[in-house]
Amino acid sequence: MTHTATTTVPVWIFGAKGMLAGELLRLLDLHPALELRGAVSRSEQSVLDAHPHAATKARTCNADEAKLAIAAALEAGSGAALFLALPHGESVAVWSALRRELGARAGELHVVDLAADFRLRDARRYASAYGHEHAAPEELAGFAYGLPELQRSEIARSRRVAAAGCFATAMQLACVPAARAALLDTTRPWVLHGVTGSSGSGVEPKPGTHHPWRHGNLWAYALEGHRHEAELAQALESVGPVPPIHFVAHSGPFARGIHLTCALPLARRLTTAEARSAYAEVFDGATFVDVLDGRVPDLRSISGSNRAQLAVSVRGDVLNVLCTLDNMTKGGAGQALQCLNLMLGFPEHWGLPRAGLGVC
Ligand SMILES: NC(=O)c1ccc[n+]([C@@H]2O[C@H](COP(=O)([O-])OP(=O)(O)OC[C@H]3O[C@@H](n4cnc5c(N)ncnc54)[C@H](OP(=O)(O)O)[C@@H]3O)[C@@H](O)[C@H]2O)c1
Repeated sequence: MTHTATTTVPVWIFGAKGMLAGELLRLLDLHPALELRGAVSRSEQSVLDAHPHAATKARTCNADEAKLAIAAALEAGSGAALFLALPHGESVAVWSALRRELGARAGELHVVDLAADFRLRDARRYASAYGHEHAAPEELAGFAYGLPELQRSEIARSRRVAAAGCFATAMQLACVPAARAALLDTTRPWVLHGVTGSSGSGVEPKPGTHHPWRHGNLWAYALEGHRHEAELAQALESVGPVPPIHFVAHSGPFARGIHLTCALPLARRLTTAEARSAYAEVFDGATFVDVLDGRVPDLRSISGSNRAQLAVSVRGDVLNVLCTLDNMTKGGAGQALQCLNLMLGFPEHWGLPRAGLGVC
């Protein structure tokens, strides 16, 4: 079914108190055809107490109340959509239970998972990246991978989507166009350096998100390999040989945003103009990816926006690609909403700001 602005689709968010649930609330307020019916939480705290920035009348509910309401919405023929904004491992548990309880009707739901539970098609790659067996490997094939600029038609055909990870989104936007154009040497390491803001660590305070520790500070983590490298490897293997990927993640002294710097070995001589046009061709017509010309991306420009910005340049036999995006928006809730728009046949940009905050 293709929906229009005159059809309102009811939506539920699981993980109501979380960081991305808060961002979804902000974006859903701008959406002309999605109506938030319930924010599912383990606590009874009101949505507005958890997220005072949100302008919503929706209330928190528990999972059982949500399941009944979802079943009723499906029964009434209005469709229903879910965002699973849950910790890694919780989404698969919630979805498996919901699928059992809704029976055949579960197939009518539109589901977007924001966690990592369904992003990797291969259960062995999942076990190697996450250090444990997948809890429901038979479900993996039922989820499309959610990075619209690279998989738009698969997403549009799907009922269930696993939104790409935040670093993984930046890595793929930065590397896949050059890989598709066979510009890169896959025998030498591709070196990626990423810095993320503290909101990437979720809503619960941790030592690494505590203000006096984070403010004015910068440090590297996951030196032995970051989980999101598996998403890049999955994307690259559909294009050709997978190179050695050397990604080092850093925690930066800001709340929102990711800045990625890539040094990619070229397979042949190339000018900056040629490299740039390969990227511009892949992202031609994409509302939310800008390939900059003569400007470097920064965080101020994309903070609060669903845009990613790229800059491409050649130095000797290395292709330098810079990418910035907001981990909460293009790297999280915005991308999830962009996927849902595609799944429901809505214009891709509904509810999604292009302009950044400018000052953040
Ligand atoms: N933050 C980002 O920038 C970002 C970007 C892309 C993807 N992601 C992924 O998206 C998912 C949500 O991210 P987030 O930053 O919103 O996470 P978060 O701030 O930690 O929120 C997750 C929410 O899930 C609920 N929850 C249910 N079961 C839970 C459990 N056993 N333990 C803890 N919380 C539980 C909690 O809400 P209630 O207390 O209301 O139940 C919690 O606030 C995660 O899987 C994350 O990896 C995050």
